[in-house]
Amino acid sequence: MPLMYSQRLKNGSPLLFCAIATVLLANAAQAQSNSETDAGSGADSNIQTSVFGHLPDGRQVDVYQFTNANGIELRVTNYGGIILSLKTPDMDGKFDDIALGFDSLEAYLSDEYRQANPYFGAIIGRYGNRIAGGQFSLDGESYSLATNDGSNHLHGGEQGFDKVLWQAEPFESEAGTGLVLRYTSEDGEEGYPGKLETEVTYTLTDNDELMVEYRAVTDKATPVNLTQHSYFNLKGEGSDTILDHQLMINAPEFTPVNDTLIPTGEIRSVDGTPFDFTQATPIGERIEQDNEQLSFGGGYDHNFVLARDDAASDELVVAAKVWESQSGRMVEITTTEPAIQFYSGNFLNGDLTGKQGQAYGHRSGFALETQHYPDSPNQEAFPSTTLEPGDTYLSRTIYRFSAQESFDE
Ligand code: GLA
Repeated sequence: MPLMYSQRLKNGSPLLFCAIATVLLANAAQAQSNSETDAGSGADSNIQTSVFGHLPDGRQVDVYQFTNANGIELRVTNYGGIILSLKTPDMDGKFDDIALGFDSLEAYLSDEYRQANPYFGAIIGRYGNRIAGGQFSLDGESYSLATNDGSNHLHGGEQGFDKVLWQAEPFESEAGTGLVLRYTSEDGEEGYPGKLETEVTYTLTDNDELMVEYRAVTDKATPVNLTQHSYFNLKGEGSDTILDHQLMINAPEFTPVNDTLIPTGEIRSVDGTPFDFTQATPIGERIEQDNEQLSFGGGYDHNFVLARDDAASDELVVAAKVWESQSGRMVEITTTEPAIQFYSGNFLNGDLTGKQGQAYGHRSGFALETQHYPDSPNQEAFPSTTLEPGDTYLSRTIYRFSAQESFDE
């Protein structure tokens, strides 16, 4: 299939897109040549594959495990593109799994999980976060989507990209090892217009980065907002809360919401509010303050507008950094996206038991989801999330993992 990187979203930087295109093309070629050797053999390389289980309709679901030169280990399944585990070293070189999730496919398929719907580790699409009332209009047509979050549409609907089986090809390239995931969302799926061909590439580099690249093309105009919904606890998943983790978000502004978590349209300065994370601050320091926005979210569940010299630019910028003092673990997130949703795990309530057999309690993991703003299809003043036929949706986010004695080291 010809790639269309010469055509791009309105505010895209051609140079960056060329770079991404080169990496994606190299990855795709590499994936092709490696698929016969590495996939399935699990032999001598730092890529191993195994069977995770089967879907109710009999389709096989796999797990792909990648290890980098420093021993960081990433496990991903082609069901929902879910990151199952991520083992990184602490300051003493001790590895822990920092990603919340489960050991078995059954756990991800269970009714209990689907009802709680935390979206642990999954790829989110076709539209990450909420669309008010599940309604939007595009080119004079009205569209109705599932209202799966009270009166609103959330994370792509009843069966979003987190609950579908992706076609997967592992690869080894100069950048590292990883997985190309492809999924075609049919015209009308979950109520969205246009057949959307989606590709998400995970690359684990020897520089201790997890790079996530998203690409999509459509045959009709459609809203697209893809993201990754991993929850981390830098002390190790199954530990207590993340309230002591120090967080920096490179965002001078955020988008306040109404009581159903739909942005009001205002873009508000974080100055003097509990939403000011421009300097590293413990997540829990102000979370219980008497603040209307915090009460709507039950804590933090808000979209932060990233600082950019040129608001329309999609150069990579540092979006957020999180550091935890016991382990010294740090994650730094850079992205081409204009915003990041910070969710402090407010809906976790101990009902779900994770990999260590520990209940995932209130705020025992945080998610930082790089994205466009929620409800953009209904908010003309927000950067557009409409993908037109002939254009290519491209987005890139890099998570860099390290361990250090202080936040600023
Ligand atoms: C996003 C939303 C939250 C919640 C989580 C999943 O972060 O903004 O409100 O739905 O996903 O539980």
